[in-house]
Amino acid sequence: MEKNILVTKSSMPELNEYVEEIKDIWETHWLTNMGSKHQRLQSELKDYLNVQNIELLTNGHMALELSMQAMKLKGEVITTPFTFASTTHAIVRNGLTPVFCDINPTDFTIDTTKIEALITDKTTAIVPVHVYGNVCNVDEIEKIAKKHNLKVIYDAAHTFGVKYNDRGIGSYGDASCFSFHATKVFNTIEGGAVCFNNQEFGQEIYRLKNFGIKDQETVDGIGANAKMNEFCAAMGLCNLKHVDREIEKRQKVVNRYRYNLSKIDGIQLNPVQDNVISNYAYFPIIIDEDNFGVNRDVIFENLKQYHITARKYFYPITNTFDCYNGTYNADNTPIALDISKRVLTLPLYADLEISEVDRICNIIRSFKK
Ligand SMILES: Cc1ncc(COP(=O)(O)O)c(C=O)c1O
Repeated sequence: MEKNILVTKSSMPELNEYVEEIKDIWETHWLTNMGSKHQRLQSELKDYLNVQNIELLTNGHMALELSMQAMKLKGEVITTPFTFASTTHAIVRNGLTPVFCDINPTDFTIDTTKIEALITDKTTAIVPVHVYGNVCNVDEIEKIAKKHNLKVIYDAAHTFGVKYNDRGIGSYGDASCFSFHATKVFNTIEGGAVCFNNQEFGQEIYRLKNFGIKDQETVDGIGANAKMNEFCAAMGLCNLKHVDREIEKRQKVVNRYRYNLSKIDGIQLNPVQDNVISNYAYFPIIIDEDNFGVNRDVIFENLKQYHITARKYFYPITNTFDCYNGTYNADNTPIALDISKRVLTLPLYADLEISEVDRICNIIRSFKK
């Protein structure tokens, strides 16, 4: 039987390496609450990501939720629906109203030419998403935010290690929220972080991730529990040692996909962006049924017959979710809606063999009519 190929495979260190890293926990009995591994990982990530400040958290979602809470945002927040549930949920769970801006059809990030028309006297922030690791038009977003006095919180869940114009991507905006989930380029099993420049914001995040506790007798914030534990931090310390090599291996996989699929009528590839050092996080393709002959769903289903799991990522878009009961109109974001019906992300992980990439591409080619 042919090997099962899943859409991703989590990066893990050698078992011995992890065991070595966690051994001293049996001496200290310090399992969580900002222990030494948490502190070490925080400092190593600050350097690696090339950012001024960073706070570690339990996951990327809490990074988004607590960043919005820490900024005391009110009213409306401009964002895109072409993202994971987390981005929109974080806005709504903060009691804020998401106002959906469309994406551009080439790199799937927020279309900055459409932001200003959505700004009202209730708008307090923009939450753009560096989707698939593609960098948003950060320069234009900064200009708009300055002009209208808005905060910018980037959903940087997909952009671990990405650089734009030689600057760590986490250094843009008022805050950038990373995910270290098991499926991401760098993982701490579950985990996340927020990067920022303003120290007071950092103190607020620190407090909010620890129940709003200021000191032993003062609780002056309605916080959550979003502390990264020592076992997750230990996984991060191990994975960080290998992440450059993992990204190199991903690059080889992506290059091979490009080589195989770039000249096929009816398949649009993720762009290569100028001045961006990529992390090769995802490999989305957009299918144009008129030119390819069959649609995305047919490719998705047929790949399964070959034990290959691709993912309709992101489908459905968040402004169509059942939980929002028709509150939002996806026709206001027609490009996001259209792309969501045509996108397929192909299997991608560091250890995916080139021969497997070739096989996946040959199978996709064979579907063409
Ligand atoms: C775009 C995006 N935002 C936010 C998140 C939430 O991150 P986490 O799973 O670490 O909570 C994810 C992924 O999981 C994501 O893909």
